[in-house]
Amino acid sequence: MSADLVIKNGHVVTPAETFKGGVAINDGKLVAIGTDDTLPKGKEEVDAKGKHILPGIIDGHVHFREPGLSHKEDFTTGSTAAVCGGVTMVMDMPNVNPPTADADKVREKIKIAEGKFLTDYAFYGVVVQTNADQILPMAEAGVIGYKIFFGETIGNLPFPDDGMCLEAFSNISKSGLPLGIHAENRQIMAYYTNKLKAEGKNDPIYWEASRPAICEAESVAHAIFFAETFNTKLHVYHMSSKQAAALVREAKAKGLRVTAETGPHYLLRDYKDMAKVGPLLKMNPPVRSRDHGEALWDGLLNGYIDMIATDHSPHTLEEKGSDIYGKMTKPAIWDCISGFCGVETAVPLLLTEVNKGRMTLNHYAKLTSENPAKVWQIYPQKGAIRLGSDGDVTIVDMDKEGTIDVNKLHSKNKPSPWHGWKVKGMPVATVVRGNVQMRDGEVVGKPIGKLVRPKLA
Ligand code: DOR
Ligand code: ZN
Repeated sequence: MSADLVIKNGHVVTPAETFKGGVAINDGKLVAIGTDDTLPKGKEEVDAKGKHILPGIIDGHVHFREPGLSHKEDFTTGSTAAVCGGVTMVMDMPNVNPPTADADKVREKIKIAEGKFLTDYAFYGVVVQTNADQILPMAEAGVIGYKIFFGETIGNLPFPDDGMCLEAFSNISKSGLPLGIHAENRQIMAYYTNKLKAEGKNDPIYWEASRPAICEAESVAHAIFFAETFNTKLHVYHMSSKQAAALVREAKAKGLRVTAETGPHYLLRDYKDMAKVGPLLKMNPPVRSRDHGEALWDGLLNGYIDMIATDHSPHTLEEKGSDIYGKMTKPAIWDCISGFCGVETAVPLLLTEVNKGRMTLNHYAKLTSENPAKVWQIYPQKGAIRLGSDGDVTIVDMDKEGTIDVNKLHSKNKPSPWHGWKVKGMPVATVVRGNVQMRDGEVVGKPIGKLVRPKLA
């Protein structure tokens, strides 16, 4: 027997164990997993000596900006950045132009994506005040889940009012797909923003104060109430505060189907960093003080925060109101847009934390592959090193050191708050269904990415 691709002589990492050996992939699927002597011959062979073979890393939250906003990013540049960062699959957000808000828009987006992605991918549909009747048709058209933007953010999408939420949550439950929420209370943020502006507090450092933790927590509590009422699968995107984390923990303890993600910036940065990197760290919701960051680590380590996702959200420097190193070029932080690149830097940043002993590589694989695949209902096609699963793996070198240089990122626009960060532990190969897409930081693959549809029980 032979296989298309054999990766051997490494350490295979799953959430449950690490063992010496490798994997074989044929026709895009894992056909052998084990010690080197048990693996078939490969038409192509990769020697993973001294490296770790992880289940393909899934970024459940990216903004690749097609259609309509491709001056910021497009499917090819975004997914190139993704494979360079060790990511094999992404879930792409619906705040594009036109927004992905009905079945036709979903089908159009799927068509536009053909032949463009270097990773596999899935799309979210957005739920607003006027499209509750499109919830089930969007599921049929192929979305992986839904998003409601409860807070004002990029794209300015209107969210369903409480009356319409009754209909929306009920229909979403019927679809069997999860609802992800951007949880920020619009009235609270308007109140603080007006207050800070009136006081002339226009520096980047005030961004967090304009959307404090209560702003997120109130919105999470509100959504959990609806989710409990309608038995909806609820996912909290980009969770940033200890109060919201506590609410998710309680909801899980009650047996509700509530999950959450957080991102590298919330785990590793402090809002005070905005004094140095200015608008580059401006994000909705904002990065907070370290006590929030530590609470989010606790959630990841103790199972009440399910995954790490990046919220990769590139903009031009002009839109960011910043130069590439963080010098503000607009009069006030309010004039600068929210969001920054993340899909290419998350893996080295978090592997650095693994090297520091903050978590095991096995747990890292759970948070970046198994759990996102389970939450978005594509497990075990994705998210597993298991016979019959898609042949997606990320090979990492835990000894490789580097320094993040934002000028070398592969995104169309590169604003990022991570310039100059030293990392130890880097992805060295990205394999999507047996296709080697990245090797030693260089793109070596083609746009062979496919749409992934959820499997509903
Ligand atoms: O800061 C943000 N930027 N937060 C979001 O929710 C959206 C994102 C974007 O699309 O740029
Ligand atoms: Zn986002």
